[in-house]
Amino acid sequence: MNVDLPLQLLGGLSPQLFMKRHWQKKPLLVRQAIPGFKPLLDRSALFEMAADEDVQSRMVIQEPEQVPGWRFKHGPFERRAFPALKRPGWTLLVQGVDLHHNAVHDLMNQFRFVPDARLDDLMISYASDGGGVGPHTDSYDVFLLQAHGRRRWRIGRQKDTSLQPDVPLKILANFVPEQEFVLEAGDMLYLPPRYAHDGIAEGECMTYSIGFRSPNRGELAREVLQRLAEDAEDLVGESLYRDPQQPAVSRSSEIPPQMLEFAHDALRGALQDPDALGRALGEYMTEPKASVWFDPGNESVDGTSESIRLDRRTKMMFDARHIFINGESFRAGGRDATLMRQLADERALSLKDVGRASAEARALLQTWCEAGWLHGV
Ligand code: SIN
Ligand code: CO
Repeated sequence: MNVDLPLQLLGGLSPQLFMKRHWQKKPLLVRQAIPGFKPLLDRSALFEMAADEDVQSRMVIQEPEQVPGWRFKHGPFERRAFPALKRPGWTLLVQGVDLHHNAVHDLMNQFRFVPDARLDDLMISYASDGGGVGPHTDSYDVFLLQAHGRRRWRIGRQKDTSLQPDVPLKILANFVPEQEFVLEAGDMLYLPPRYAHDGIAEGECMTYSIGFRSPNRGELAREVLQRLAEDAEDLVGESLYRDPQQPAVSRSSEIPPQMLEFAHDALRGALQDPDALGRALGEYMTEPKASVWFDPGNESVDGTSESIRLDRRTKMMFDARHIFINGESFRAGGRDATLMRQLADERALSLKDVGRASAEARALLQTWCEAGWLHGV
């Protein structure tokens, strides 16, 4: 992607300028980000998806006459679990639709000017008239693309982050909106993390949220250390602690400080390995979500198809030394690395390019094909 070309999707900003001016900093409203946009799934297809136990879905129902005024439920939902369409004030949110629907996945790919390691999923919400999830903040950036109908968004920087008590959702107690927009199909609103927002449907509406992931330090450290731990012996060797200088001790239960230094040195060794940390990070970042499974295939990479394409569920990334795919890592260099990086970026490779890969790389592509991670097209 040429990140210096202006995009209608970003209101005429180039991805480069958008990232500089808005990303993680300030909202952007784009009228007709996708002109003439039509929903990629109709209401019944979305409801059907919410019945699938491999799909994460939630429902929020406003009950103004009752305390606490909101009801919250986790899916899966049978069709009869939904309130009547005419009943105002309810909403269904379906997470990770990109994993189940190629056109939705392609739409999310328009946002790949942000690294894949930061892109999370595309959520679709359906709301009856007046529906919404209440004023709140999210921890992550989001693009809110209006897909069908109209929604009124009120947004604000919100200093007071206190929440309404005894409500099954995180709803701001004292929301102070600063700006208000009505979005029509094809309009889009970008919000940075922790920017308060409240979207209320004006008539039936559908909103697509392109969401991001941001690893937190503790979680990242745990995931990376777990992977490093698996390779610990190979990384730092198995030499024994030696203590020819150990004096006799009067307090025998005290751990010798040199042993702490020995442990420290072993850990430094693991972290300083030029490969290990990057490998662990890449494996973690490309780990498929828990609900994801692949259908094994029996296609041949060198067969009759014209190109190979990554399955929409496949996560593929690279760093300076490795190629990562669905939680696995491979050392790659030279032409194979170039081709594999191209596959990761474009999510496809022509058969001509496949033919330029080494026999070893082609064999790898074949195993990925058989695992259902990529397909011939
Ligand atoms: C929605 O689509 O109803 C909620 C999206 C959000 O506020 O993040
Ligand atoms: Co939100």
